[in-house]
Amino acid sequence: MGRRKLVVGNWKMNGMRAHLDEVEAIGAVAAAHPDVEVGLCLPATLIMAGFERRGAAFIGAQNCHMDFSGAYTGSLSAEMLAEAGASWVITGHSERREARGETNADIAAKSVAAHNAGINVILCVGETLAVRDAGRAEQVVADQLLASLPEGAAADWLAVAYEPIWAIGTGRIPTIEAVATMHAALRAALASRIGAEADKVRILYGGSMNGDNAADLMGIADVDGGLVGGASLTAAKFAPIIEAAD
Ligand code: G3P
Repeated sequence: MGRRKLVVGNWKMNGMRAHLDEVEAIGAVAAAHPDVEVGLCLPATLIMAGFERRGAAFIGAQNCHMDFSGAYTGSLSAEMLAEAGASWVITGHSERREARGETNADIAAKSVAAHNAGINVILCVGETLAVRDAGRAEQVVADQLLASLPEGAAADWLAVAYEPIWAIGTGRIPTIEAVATMHAALRAALASRIGAEADKVRILYGGSMNGDNAADLMGIADVDGGLVGGASLTAAKFAPIIEAAD
């Protein structure tokens, strides 16, 4: 299919200047694996300094506002993030959908704003444990994807991350079969909206990915990389995941 693997660390609300050495070390690992696209979505306070030390990794942000500018205390526009050095942004992470009440429409608007600012987007979707236990995971997550898919979605600026909420930071992951079924369902949902372009869109897995399970997860046909939280905070933990993608 020719989709280049994409492995991205989401540092969430972690990272001080002292951790820039890890950014640099991860950038060096990225340089050793040029067939893999590697990036770090840093806290906004580290984007400018991280950009200077990124090596072969790209620097991304974890959120953006949907408007260009205005009276939005505490918010950052996609243009600001782009100027700081971010070339990607995460939208729709469950930690923002749930805790900040972000709607599918908000997420689509943020994704369009990012694209208009020249920033690529990782759009996150995922189900609760209750939904999975009810046997509705594929339907619910596919619906969520279509409801938050931005206008004009295309593979050269949009990737999707499937992150089962119950797998985030818990050490639990779905079975390989369940991930394969979900990713195939998400690609089919994409195809229903954007046709053959769906074959080019990278669909990442996220949720307790680590050096032990990365090869199995990324060996699945429709898994095109990973969105990694805890295991992306140090080069020692992130490197085996990048290697598994190569
Ligand atoms: O966005 C990445 C994420 O939510 C997964 O976190 O710590 O389970 O890898 P973690």
